[in-house]
Amino acid sequence: MPETILVCVAWPYANTPLHAGQIAGAYLPADIFARYHRMRGNRVLMVSGSDAHGTPITVRAEAEGISPQAIFERNHASFLETFERFGISFDLFTSTATDNHAQVSQELFLQLREAGYIYPAEQTLLYDPKADRFLPDRYVEGTCPVCGYEGARGDQCDNCGSTLDAIELINPRSRFSDATPVPRPSTHFFLKLSAFNEPLREWVERQEHWRPAVRNFTLGLLREGLHDRGITRDLDWGIPVPVEGFEGKRIYVWFEAVIGYLSASIEWASRNGTPEAWCDFWEDPSARTYYFQGKDNVPFHTTIWPAMLMGRGGLNLPYDVPANQYVTMSGAKASSSRNWAVWMPDYVARHDPDPLRYMLSAIMPETSDSDFTWAEYVRRNNDELVATWGNLVNRVLTFTRRNFDARVPEPRAMLAPESQAILDAVDAAFEEVGQHIEAVRLRAALQAAMSVAQQTNRYLDERAPWSAIKQDRESAAETLYTAINVISGLASLFQPFMPFTSPVAWSLGGNQGDIEGAGWRRSPVPAGTSLPEPSPLFKKLDDALVDEEEARLGR
Ligand code: MF3
Ligand code: ZN
Repeated sequence: MPETILVCVAWPYANTPLHAGQIAGAYLPADIFARYHRMRGNRVLMVSGSDAHGTPITVRAEAEGISPQAIFERNHASFLETFERFGISFDLFTSTATDNHAQVSQELFLQLREAGYIYPAEQTLLYDPKADRFLPDRYVEGTCPVCGYEGARGDQCDNCGSTLDAIELINPRSRFSDATPVPRPSTHFFLKLSAFNEPLREWVERQEHWRPAVRNFTLGLLREGLHDRGITRDLDWGIPVPVEGFEGKRIYVWFEAVIGYLSASIEWASRNGTPEAWCDFWEDPSARTYYFQGKDNVPFHTTIWPAMLMGRGGLNLPYDVPANQYVTMSGAKASSSRNWAVWMPDYVARHDPDPLRYMLSAIMPETSDSDFTWAEYVRRNNDELVATWGNLVNRVLTFTRRNFDARVPEPRAMLAPESQAILDAVDAAFEEVGQHIEAVRLRAALQAAMSVAQQTNRYLDERAPWSAIKQDRESAAETLYTAINVISGLASLFQPFMPFTSPVAWSLGGNQGDIEGAGWRRSPVPAGTSLPEPSPLFKKLDDALVDEEEARLGR
């Protein structure tokens, strides 16, 4: 029975282009996971979109002296291009700026209000008397009341991950002027999170398959107890509050952005001409929903969004929230302001996608932060992609073409035990790699696939068909037949990770058609199949690249 899998990926703020850390945190793992499930024949819907609203966008617009709309449009276009060129295979990447999203968000707002989970109250907010405006979220910085970090923002502390209300900051500072912010009342709507503390705790307790970091962090938040949160803001950029008397206010960006998963699924269904199709992913309890994201997004996906879903009722809660830790760049946290990042538009303009997909998968920060260096990128490209996998494909196929008339040789009726063993190993790897991917252990999955490539190289070295061919042509024929069939399997195993080079390896091994359509299994290549002219899968990289790329950092 095919399974139904909804792959939700965090919506990037459209205020800067994407960097490699964000790709490793959410987009790449989601893509690997979605591609695998599609190969398994499961029904997959992978959605996300640009987060167009909120103070990250308006702060950026003010800094550049252009409109928030222009900031959003520029970066949305950049995201689409990055996903296209890096092979991130969304079924729909939309944005929170659509009419559909505004409608779905306002409707859920009203449903929750109707159910008594959203209520108005007078709130004391920070106000900048000099700039004459309220200071929502990122317009105010100060000391975190939870951990004491001095650079906390009004919406969240980057140090301890707590979600904050600006008024809670100690020693607040305005971004608009040097005036000291003062408290001032304003009427806003609140989400009654306190009502969900117990139901959430019971639910999270049962999620034993979650990553311990995600589950424990969430249980910690619930142990401290959730407070009701303001979900409207004194801003003019965002989705209007659908209630009379609130014309000058907007829905809080996080409240509506998480609704994007639902609105995007609805948009996807109607674009496909099957307007009800989203229900299979949201209403059928056997469908499973995965939320890919970086660790700073966890409280929104394990408490606020599930609370909203519980309040509405009838829609699936997250099945898993496989949040990643961070990828640092040469030892330091990625930062736009210090230009300390590998920017994806730059990367895809200068390099091939698969080596970075491979590198980021190999160091994917699933349990702790990991570090990206260009030296390690070059080393992995040269030692692992070129020397282990690329060279395996190249030497087997070149040699076969030259000595067996460009056809897969006929093996002996009964394969030698070591030949059978390597074929069995690649077949068994589908099970092992598949189990790792299903549990979102993508590092382990890639390692398991790579170890079959290493084993195959040892098999080739032992059987040495290049010398065997002189005395025992049958032995060489068997070795090459076996190796070509293993290459066919390896190409499929690598496909979720490296979707640009794997189809090439697969066709070079004599296969025809679409590698993902061929399924999660080794496509057998029969003797006699004709083999195309091989071309290298990967380029050997020069060490000079390390200096060139490092020189771009921090400038
Ligand atoms: N825009 C947020 C960020 O970049 C993530 C939003 S995820 C969503 O951190 F689900 F809320 F959309
Ligand atoms: Zn903190």
